[in-house]
Amino acid sequence: MNFFITFEGIEGCGKTTQLRLLTQQLRLLGRDVVTTREPGGCPIADAIRNILLDPGNHNLAARAELLLYAAARAQHIDEVIRPALRDGKMVLCDRFTDATIAYQGYGRGLDRELIASLNALASSGTMPDLTILLDMPAEEGLQRARSRNTTQTLEHEGRFEQESLEFHRRVRQGYLDLAQREKRILVIDAMGPPESVSERIFKALEPKLFTERCS
Ligand code: TMP
Repeated sequence: MNFFITFEGIEGCGKTTQLRLLTQQLRLLGRDVVTTREPGGCPIADAIRNILLDPGNHNLAARAELLLYAAARAQHIDEVIRPALRDGKMVLCDRFTDATIAYQGYGRGLDRELIASLNALASSGTMPDLTILLDMPAEEGLQRARSRNTTQTLEHEGRFEQESLEFHRRVRQGYLDLAQREKRILVIDAMGPPESVSERIFKALEPKLFTERCS
């Protein structure tokens, strides 16, 4: 049966690694898993990603940024996420609508109700069954993200790593506020070795995955 899981968190929280580890575990259990990410996941959305994350675009207006995330999402939903769910697959997505509330709402200070409406337009009713929020202090995540970008030559995607610590603290707070309101969001402590975090995720997910919809 189809199931839609999103991974969220501040920069450097380890979501990409955890998404990969969970995918391996689920495939070993015989699940048909599609992995994807936002912004991106298909050629048009990947082209928008390049604009959004290019550190050279430091003068991108906050409203333009918001609309570009929404545009990339609309394309990604139509081209990748909804078809996969329709085919009965599990979709694991690195970031989704919560990121727009946390970054453009709490981080940039744009109107959160407006963002919620745009999110609804872009996703046209497709929402995650579950969201894993990997939580850690902003200082820790930012330090990890900056050193990762240097060692993996990801500087071309570093526009958000250039933001202040205060910005990233607001983003974290945004995610935690969302988690208080939305039952689908599981907050996981992202500190410690990746294997321990992976165990925490699997433990938290197991009852939901195997008793609610996928059994
Ligand atoms: P990534 O580094 O996890 O691939 O995410 C790309 C960046 O885009 C990250 O800094 C968070 C940011 N972002 C937003 O600001 N709003 C959004 O809606 C999404 C999906 C990502």
